[in-house]
Amino acid sequence: MDVESLKQEAGVAACAYVNDGMNVGLGTGSTVKYTIIELGRRVTEEGLSIVGVPTSLATEELARSVGIPLAELDTLNMLDVVIDGTDEFDPQFNLIKGGGAALLREKIVAQASKKMVVVADARKQVEHLGAFPLPVEITCFSWATTKRSIEKVLNCLTSRRMNGDEPLKTDNGNFIIDAQTGPNIHDPAETERQLLALAGVVQVGLFNGMCDVVILARDDGVEILTKED
Ligand code: 5RP
Repeated sequence: MDVESLKQEAGVAACAYVNDGMNVGLGTGSTVKYTIIELGRRVTEEGLSIVGVPTSLATEELARSVGIPLAELDTLNMLDVVIDGTDEFDPQFNLIKGGGAALLREKIVAQASKKMVVVADARKQVEHLGAFPLPVEITCFSWATTKRSIEKVLNCLTSRRMNGDEPLKTDNGNFIIDAQTGPNIHDPAETERQLLALAGVVQVGLFNGMCDVVILARDDGVEILTKED
């Protein structure tokens, strides 16, 4: 099966976690896109009643285009569930996220959700996090100083993410530093703690202990992995 079909399978399967009356965090990326499209179909064709909270401007636009009613997180209490993609997940369900530069809003929404469901294809499953460069959102002010500090903490090379010839700016007006740690983030909580201690770091793309369910699309079908397994 091609990767796009796997993403679609995982994305659509995640809709099983959404019921009438729920407030739903809507993640960002090319896998959860399929969740959002399917939820939109259920809203318009089947009368599903939900309120979505998007984690990026791109997701907001997509969700509006498929007819999902939206609200700001501040106007709601806890969300029932957030469904989001991931760049990697390890056996403890710790994640690297931020490949789509939405990590800050994604983490705010995930922290405000009772349950986090992650949609992924088999390429995202790893033993140790870090083969995917770790995204770190930083302030534009003195960005090069913060970049050097990140390199010192992680003892690895980093690069500032670009968007064509320009540095990429997140929806929050910040830069992203991608850190090439290699697949050896053995203590993600400690790595996150050390990076967050740097004043210029706004947020780190490590989502530790937040994910409850991974919907994993493989060639031979969709597997539901839960934290208790
Ligand atoms: C955006 C993210 C995405 O969820 C992550 O990059 C996975 O995206 P995709 O499903 O396109 O591989 O964290 O910031």
